[in-house]
Amino acid sequence: MARKKIIAGNWKMNMTPSEAVELVNTLKPLVATEESDVVFCVPAIDLIPVLEACKGSNIQVGAENMYFEEKGAFTGEISPNMLTDIGVKYVIIGHSERREYFAETDETVNKKVLKAFEHGITPIICCGETLTQREQGVTMDFIRQQVKIAFLNVTADQAKTAVIAYEPIWAIGTGKTATTAQAQEVCAGIRQCIKEIYDEATADAIRIQYGGSVNAATAPELFAQPDIDGGLVGGAALKPDFGKIVNYK
Ligand code: 13P
Repeated sequence: MARKKIIAGNWKMNMTPSEAVELVNTLKPLVATEESDVVFCVPAIDLIPVLEACKGSNIQVGAENMYFEEKGAFTGEISPNMLTDIGVKYVIIGHSERREYFAETDETVNKKVLKAFEHGITPIICCGETLTQREQGVTMDFIRQQVKIAFLNVTADQAKTAVIAYEPIWAIGTGKTATTAQAQEVCAGIRQCIKEIYDEATADAIRIQYGGSVNAATAPELFAQPDIDGGLVGGAALKPDFGKIVNYK
């Protein structure tokens, strides 16, 4: 089965609402394609203006985080039903920056993944090793643990629709892209892990992205790999270059 590529921008903490609308208007014609799914994951305050600006285009809009409760005394958090109410379709969960700076754990990632599915939001679940882990040869052990806990109690039907983003931490924002071989090897390992948890059909259906210093020059080779179904793009998603990444062929 041919998996449709999914190319997502993670804007991180960039772009005020007015800058966001300007960026969408710049990128809209550059990312117009039906060949791949195109997603802009934007800061919470930008979601409504970006959704409005993307109307009538092929761009889908995602959040960068959400909480795992519907409502209540959780100051500063955003709930899944707040996201669906405005038309958000995707949410990034467990980005390494959230794990590092905001104390997210494999367990909170799992709670958020379950909640996203409950509300019909597609989670983009992030995993990835540190440089020390890679150098010590425990990359796959570490990622298998992240993946296995993230998917605890997730059904096969849900897992089939999920997106996993493999983002080696040492490659994020550093200009050091993993080699194509490194990225393919880990993405294949993640697919194997999904096959072990579920079955071949689930492993075949789930989409696995690579993220970490993806740019217009590296995207074509990365996205041509058999187990890499697109990318999660940081810095280059804020520039017209994102159009080239989306049209990588
Ligand atoms: P960069 O593309 O800026 O390295 O960021 C990658 C990333 O963290 C996407 O989620």
